[in-house]
Order: sequence, then C-alpha cells, then structure tokens
Amino acid sequence: MDFFKENENDTWEKLRADCGRCMNCQLGRTRHNLVFGVGNEQADVMFVGEGPGEQEDLQGEPFVGPAGKLLDTMLELIDLDRSQVYIANIVKCRPPRNRDPLPDEQSACIGWLTRQIALVQPKILVFLGRIAAQVFIKPDFRITREHGQWFDVDGRRAMAMYHPSALLRDPSKRPETFVDLKTLQREIKDLHV
Ligand code: URA
Repeated sequence: MDFFKENENDTWEKLRADCGRCMNCQLGRTRHNLVFGVGNEQADVMFVGEGPGEQEDLQGEPFVGPAGKLLDTMLELIDLDRSQVYIANIVKCRPPRNRDPLPDEQSACIGWLTRQIALVQPKILVFLGRIAAQVFIKPDFRITREHGQWFDVDGRRAMAMYHPSALLRDPSKRPETFVDLKTLQREIKDLHV
C-alpha cells in the first residue's frame, strides 16, 4: 500500500477546505462540528484515534473530553505534549451515541486522514484502539494481544495502544499502557526524533 505518498500539489489549506465541507457519509448530517485534527504539522509522532465523541463534536477538536484528558496525561508521562505531536481520527464526524464508525463511514472518510498523514510525514504512527489499528495494521488486529508491538505501515514505525476510553472503563489495563508508552519513548529516542 502506498497510503502516505507525498503529493506536492496538496496543501493544508486545500485539505481543510475540501474536508470541511464533506458530506461523504451520513455522519455529516448529524455533526455539530467536523473534527479535522490538531497539533504540529511537522510532527514526528502522529496519534490516530477512532472518531469524535460528544465534547469533540461540540468543540471541533479531537480528544478534548474525558478520554482526551487521559491522553494528555499519557503524553506527559513520556515528556510530550500536544504541541509536539499531531492528533487525528479515522472518522471526522461523531457517530451517534459514540457507536463504532461503520465500515462504509470509515471508507468514506479515510482519504482525509491519509492526506493528513502524507502532509505531516510522521516517522511514528500510534493507533489508539482496535478500530484504527485494524484499518492500518491489519483487519484482524487483536488489541489485547498486539498492543505495544511494532509494525511496519508503509515504511513507518507503527504501534497500537489501548484507547484512552478503554483505560477509563478498565483501569487495570493502565500498567500495560505505561509499558507501551515507555516503548514509544525509547523508539523516539532511538530515532533521534
Ligand atoms: N475518542 C476518539 O477516538 N477520538 C476523539 O477525538 C475523542 C474520543
């Protein structure tokens, strides 16, 4: 796959404008705000979540609700903050009642994210939760067994971690996530990023 090939004709302005008026799927009809993405457009590390929740839909920014607060803490644990990474989601509009985005919603939306990745050109991709990992790593990705392991995604280092919402529901998964975060921190150091 050549997901993230640089396209010299694409720009953030163009992408924001195209994506901003997207009605490629039914989620466009119920959104308050489209949640494009946020962070450092030259980041070496990019985090990919699943889709906006209630607060994200209201504020138009990813990970600003309770899961987002926990993501901030996770970043802090390895001396990162939002200004150093880029954060985006598989789908840009909130699925009703926070259900999983449907396969046709994911495919209608994924082109925006691949353009974001192509513009950022991160060295490391971190997928938050099963849904994002299944899209980019492999369709049968098992988050309980394969979180914290490194994969190659189009020549980039890629790993999945438990989604912060899962960690809020089940705090017993937090120690494993701490180990995954330390693995990520080591990789960042090793790459001198
Ligand atoms: N969960 C996600 O996957 N993304 C967000 O932006 C917020 C919650």
